Amino acid sequence: MKRIAVLTSGGDSPGMNAAIRAVVRAGVYHGVQVLGVYRGFSGLIEGDFVELEVRSVGKILGKGGTILKSARCKEFRKVEGRAKAAEQLKKWGVDALVVIGGDGSFTGAKLFSEEHSIPVVGLPGTIDNDLAGTDFTIGFDTAINTVVEAVDKIRDTASSHNRLFYVEVMGRDSGFIALNSGIATGAIAIMTPETGLTAKDLVEALKKAETNRKSSSIVIVAEGCEFGGAYELSKQVKELTDKYETRITVLGHIQRGGSPSCADRVLASRLGVEAVEALLSGKSGCMIGVINDRVVHTDFGKALNNKVESLKDEVLLAQILSI
Ligand code: F6P
Repeated sequence: MKRIAVLTSGGDSPGMNAAIRAVVRAGVYHGVQVLGVYRGFSGLIEGDFVELEVRSVGKILGKGGTILKSARCKEFRKVEGRAKAAEQLKKWGVDALVVIGGDGSFTGAKLFSEEHSIPVVGLPGTIDNDLAGTDFTIGFDTAINTVVEAVDKIRDTASSHNRLFYVEVMGRDSGFIALNSGIATGAIAIMTPETGLTAKDLVEALKKAETNRKSSSIVIVAEGCEFGGAYELSKQVKELTDKYETRITVLGHIQRGGSPSCADRVLASRLGVEAVEALLSGKSGCMIGVINDRVVHTDFGKALNNKVESLKDEVLLAQILSI
């Protein structure tokens, strides 16, 4: 193996740059040349490549976003698109590919590795933490800390005015961000697809909180809840009771930006080095993650299973603590 390519795909996440840097430096260490692919699978199809060397990845360890840029590429969902990508890799003499991304990216990477004889490994880069085969995805730790910082500020004004605040957080279809940040900020209720709480449950919780002399409350709402987001929930609660003065904050894309936390930098560095070593030892079709502090390889198919089971403890914890 002489030449590998690396790309970032899907929603960016803090720590992607640290992962790119680790892939490049591990490549240099093992005598493998690394090419960067701009704009994820779109750049792969178009042959938008750049040669990366030790200094190209200097001073990016602490930077949010991705120096290679990212994209959600519709063409790669089609067999023809993936064939064009394979052609480009052959043309550029690339022997293997590292894909840094989330579930959408791994769905594409899985199909690509099944259809073409080019080895592919993945690194979990998403704030959502919704991939099996790793305890944490790159970017999750930074994102939940961003949420905690924002909610702590909201808590100050909520307390001053005795208000009820709904804070909507990202996470697509899963509640990892909501549950972890909700527990860390003392939310009265954490509405996620996993907890399945409804407006009625929330009203009950608010009544109970009043008897416990609670004057202000924070409700964390995962964007992927069945009933909709924070605005819809607030509407539904208003229909049940008009008692509370409420405000709504949708945190949005600030959750995806910012300098990666120490945990994300270290995770990305470990996984990036392992990506190169896994390819050199003949691995393909798998995602590299960390479970119980050990680096592990999980087939793309299995990594794509949502690990909601692992949220059970958090759901219980939130119930016990939010009174
Ligand atoms: O997958 C990461 C994520 O930030 C999700 O939490 C969110 O639902 C989605 O991406 C938003 O995507 P976009 O930036 O394309 O609107």
